[in-house]
Amino acid sequence: MLVAPSILSADFGSLARDVKAICDAGCDLVHVDVMDGHFVPNLTIGPVVVSAVAEAATKPLDIHLMVENNTFFVDLFAPLNPEYISFHIEEEKHPHRLAQYIRSLGIKPAIVLNPHTPAESLEYLLPYIDMVLVMSVNPGFGGQKFIDVYEKLRRLRDLRDRINPDCLIEVDGGVNDANIGALKDAGVDVCVAGSYVFKHADGLEAAIGSLKV
Ligand code: DX5
Ligand code: ZN
Repeated sequence: MLVAPSILSADFGSLARDVKAICDAGCDLVHVDVMDGHFVPNLTIGPVVVSAVAEAATKPLDIHLMVENNTFFVDLFAPLNPEYISFHIEEEKHPHRLAQYIRSLGIKPAIVLNPHTPAESLEYLLPYIDMVLVMSVNPGFGGQKFIDVYEKLRRLRDLRDRINPDCLIEVDGGVNDANIGALKDAGVDVCVAGSYVFKHADGLEAAIGSLKV
């Protein structure tokens, strides 16, 4: 299991310190939640702050867009050289075109599914993306309760195995040491965890280590 801590739960007053700390503690990706106050009822960070994150990080960035006007935001963040940029299928009229555009920039495209969006909506998109991000909370805030998405993950794994075995499956929202084993069994390759990692009583290394199942 690859671990991508969400910096939404970091201390924004000491963001560079926290980004360095999760990288030193063994994370695989740094998950960056970009919210525009329109697609979701919360507002986070733009390219000025994310460039400071990129500077501090020694692991690749995984940028999760929760925005309207995806292409505008892809163009804002592409110069920071993230490993992945993910966009919500619910907010994109032309996901096939956008995935190919992200790939043409040398970045791995990923598509995000909200809790209500079926795995099957990706059937004809899977060859064009490198990762699927399954939301296990409604997007917008850290620290929410995990929503049961196991059935969707199993269906997605079957589709992925058949259509594009190289595509990773990532899950985001309410992930902790109690559900990580079941998530792995359901086909998850990459987990995002915010509050669990940053609020763990035994520190970042213990938290990240406990998710590497
Ligand atoms: C929610 C974000 C998540 C969030 C996860 O919209 O996409 O990345 O930070 O936080 P936890 O792990 O606390 O649910
Ligand atoms: Zn996220």
